[in-house]
Amino acid sequence: MSDAPLYYGDYLKLDRLLDCQDLESTRQGATAHDEMLFIIVHQAYELWFKQTLWELDAVLGHFSAEPVEERDVGRAVGHLDRILEIQRVLMDQIDVLETMTPLDFLDFRDYLVPASGFQSVQFRLIENRLGMDPARRLDIEGTPYKARFTDADRERLRASETRPSLFDHVERWLERTPFLEFGDFDFWAAYREAVDTMLANERRFVEDNPTLPPEKKARELKSVDRTAEQFEALFDRERYAALRDEGTFRLSHRAFQAALLINLYRDEPILQLPFRMLAALMDVDENLTKWRYRHALMVLRMIGTKVGTGGSSGHEYLRRTAEQHKIFGDLFKISTFLIPRRHVRRAMGFRFGADRGEAGESGARP
Ligand code: HEM
Repeated sequence: MSDAPLYYGDYLKLDRLLDCQDLESTRQGATAHDEMLFIIVHQAYELWFKQTLWELDAVLGHFSAEPVEERDVGRAVGHLDRILEIQRVLMDQIDVLETMTPLDFLDFRDYLVPASGFQSVQFRLIENRLGMDPARRLDIEGTPYKARFTDADRERLRASETRPSLFDHVERWLERTPFLEFGDFDFWAAYREAVDTMLANERRFVEDNPTLPPEKKARELKSVDRTAEQFEALFDRERYAALRDEGTFRLSHRAFQAALLINLYRDEPILQLPFRMLAALMDVDENLTKWRYRHALMVLRMIGTKVGTGGSSGHEYLRRTAEQHKIFGDLFKISTFLIPRRHVRRAMGFRFGADRGEAGESGARP
């Protein structure tokens, strides 16, 4: 070890970091001023992607344990909160890039073909670590996303697809929740009873309302029937399994039940942390979707409806990824099945620990 005092530039390897901006336009003989911005914004993204992967690996480390320690759920939430802040910075960087006008971009765009942000390995690793479902990925002009990478990068991506993702770990963690059945409490039976009571009340309310004209009454009763049907799909394991096979749901039935329980009882101290974990996963997923829309809009502004340098349909392809490339979509569907607190309180006596003095050992953890 050298005794020389640490020097700022050496520590950060700035000589290397600041020597990585080679403008393609300069190489072609006419420097395009805005290409420097284009490169630096992309490089900054890649640095933040690296940090995001670092945080995600820590979350995966905590969640690959069985059981997951409660304090580690808190730590995982901390890492996810940091990723959320990074995602906000990434969103803001688009504003910086948009100070480049479409005409400025045209000064060097042709030199970039066939390279594209589509080939960002780290972006794909983030998607895969989070748990992007390979079956839901969009092809580019009939070729799978991995086809556009070098052999070495393709191998990294293939390996990342075979490792259990955060989605897989969270699903198992939810399935292990001890709160679905404990003591005399059976969550699913109590929930079903509460839903039936709620729907019966709604139906009676419409039927007994003397001020409703017959057509309006029929319409409202139909709406109650539609709501009942949605709940039926959840209560009927086989229907749920069929919906899962066709991609409507992704979480196992038990994991979905647990996520619902955590949402319904989020105010109970024992479930506050699991609730924060689920909320953070939704926030990360939502921010990724927001970024996809924001990037797609920027692309429309920059290149209109031209094809991308990577060969996709450009804006149209990106808009479709924003709609389809979601990872924790099931957590957003939970809201369909939430019922008002008054029904939860009346029919479902979930209490944990001191206020009821039962409900499993206080150390129970999923
Ligand atoms: C002038 C600015 C930009 C333009 C015109 C642009 C254009 C495009 C286009 C057209 C695609 C679709 C693939 C293709 O055919 O090439 C794409 C994909 C992508 N770009 Fe950009 N991009 C820009 C800036 C950025 C920046 C700053 C990043 C940050 C890393 C980025 C990351 C990505 C990623 C990750 C994809 C793949 C998205 C997916 O497949 O879901 N792009 N871009």
